Amino acid sequence: MCGIVGYIGSRKAAPLLLQGLKRLEYRGYDSAGVAMPGEGGRLWVHKQKGDVAALEAAMGASGDVPPATIGIGHTRWATHGDPSDRNSHPHVSMDGSIALIHNGIIENHAALRIELEEHGYRFMSDTDSEVLVHLIDHLWKQIPFAAFESAIRQALSVVEGAYGVCVVSSREPDMIVVARHGSPIVIGIGEGEYFVASDAAPLVEYTRRAVYLADGEMAVLRRDGFSVQSIGSVKQEAAVVELDIELEEIEKGGYEHFMLKEIFEQPEVMRDVMRGRVLPGEGIIQLGGVSGYLAALRSAPRIHICACGTSWHAGLIGEYLIEEFARIPVEVDYASEFRYRSPLIGPEDVMVVISQSGETADTLAAMRMAKERGATVLGICNVVGSTIARESDCGIYTHAGPEIGVASTKAFSAQVVVLAMLALALGRGRALTEERFGEAVRELHELPGKMRRILERHQEVERIAGEYAGADHALYLGRGYNFPVALEGALKLKEISYVHAEGYPAAEMKHGPIALIDEEMPVVVLAPQDANYRKVRSNIEEVRARGGRVLAVATEGDREIARAADHVFYVPDAAPFIVPLLCVLPLQLLSYHVAALRGCNVDRPRNLAKSVTVE
Ligand code: AGP
Ligand code: GLU
Repeated sequence: MCGIVGYIGSRKAAPLLLQGLKRLEYRGYDSAGVAMPGEGGRLWVHKQKGDVAALEAAMGASGDVPPATIGIGHTRWATHGDPSDRNSHPHVSMDGSIALIHNGIIENHAALRIELEEHGYRFMSDTDSEVLVHLIDHLWKQIPFAAFESAIRQALSVVEGAYGVCVVSSREPDMIVVARHGSPIVIGIGEGEYFVASDAAPLVEYTRRAVYLADGEMAVLRRDGFSVQSIGSVKQEAAVVELDIELEEIEKGGYEHFMLKEIFEQPEVMRDVMRGRVLPGEGIIQLGGVSGYLAALRSAPRIHICACGTSWHAGLIGEYLIEEFARIPVEVDYASEFRYRSPLIGPEDVMVVISQSGETADTLAAMRMAKERGATVLGICNVVGSTIARESDCGIYTHAGPEIGVASTKAFSAQVVVLAMLALALGRGRALTEERFGEAVRELHELPGKMRRILERHQEVERIAGEYAGADHALYLGRGYNFPVALEGALKLKEISYVHAEGYPAAEMKHGPIALIDEEMPVVVLAPQDANYRKVRSNIEEVRARGGRVLAVATEGDREIARAADHVFYVPDAAPFIVPLLCVLPLQLLSYHVAALRGCNVDRPRNLAKSVTVE
């Protein structure tokens, strides 16, 4: 959540900051703001409620944007205080000499606020973040001749919670100080210039060289160089990495929305995930990032899977996959719940954490807890170099490319394929026969082509969406591998079209939700021809008998179902473990088109942020 950008160099900062904020807007869009040195060296700050385009327009209209070559910018996802001009970042010290932007939550802000007020500080906002700028100011004034970064270091040692911060001062006009604890900060290294961002997206058009700050590190950036220290002041060796994102990957490429582009990228993403890993000729699945750990994984008495949101849905499918192919018991938890019960996890166990961003606070905390208890942690992440990717013992990248749409689509299918490959690789060293393994690998190979065939028929989904776009509720039903897809379909609809939707195991409907069914209630039923087909058909009849409208997702060639359902979308026949990856496509498209028809902002749904880096 929240996007941070910073620049120091010889170019004009304002356009660079605005461009960077646009690239990060998927992280939060409640408000946006910038700070940079202005006339007489005083800080010039402009911030307001609304998106970056509105900020840009207002700055353009103001006509007084300074030609500064250093500055910071923020796009907010509010945690404390409503989205408003006054709660926007940057926050500024009372004398106007220090400006700060913050991503995260300062948990002891209330106590600090009282103390600072006693020292005469007046607060201009309701945010937790503002305490930090006054605290820095206060401490800087306390220590005569202290360096700016020392005051920041001292302030950070007092605050509790999570932060990524970026600070500038008119009293130190040639320096940006950044620090992180729990919220990501990446530094882009150019020639005589440095960039700061919450993730690599804004950096790639300027440089390929970057440093990811670790938790507990701060960095001081000047035009002629930068240094990284621990917040406890020990000098750190900065590990410079090469960014491997292409600019086209973070642009819309002709699609109206990132979400639509990302839905259509899925066949290619499937190839990328499997490239060099699924080797049918050699009869193996090769997962480089876990090779040293396969024995420990295969002998684990139990595998725990932890994740949030869509990644948790992928985890549920992972449970079916690992139990089917590897025959190892699996437990799936919401990361936020796992931490706060007394989970039984020890050195023999394996914890698989799944996260697109690799920065989700709850998932990270669950992972750290498992590590503390000695479990082996395997991370499945999309963002290369993210915190979860770095802190896990071993891992498998999903290689889905940057996912900008807040509603996760291609990352989900990539996660499921990674879990399928993992299940098959584990199974190969256990009871999985060569024959079943071979069949499964063949199915994986056919997946991208089948996905493509579905996406070619996207207009059918658009037409169906027109029939359902006016409904205010929807029910999604599925069984087995398709139950998590029902959950995911419902989540997608809720997220981007604000239509209330519930996902249920089809057979559970009669234990309660059936009471909701009437002529107004669309029911999306995942009814592929698998072992549960007849049962699911009966569920469809139960809905129809109560006047409900049914959209069925069924297997090509199933003519019977066309009589039972109001609308049918057909997917190609495939092995049961592949079917969820096919069924999810029409559901993603359905939510997209319903949202578009309802006039919702598809890529930036209200109240959501792409990466939730607070608990
Ligand atoms: C997906 O559409 C959601 N926006 C959300 O549920 C997301 O999957 C969740 O926040 C987890 O994020 P992560 O995969 O980056 O950890
Ligand atoms: N907690 C801060 C606020 O509510 C920062 C939120 C963010 O990360 O955008 O303003």
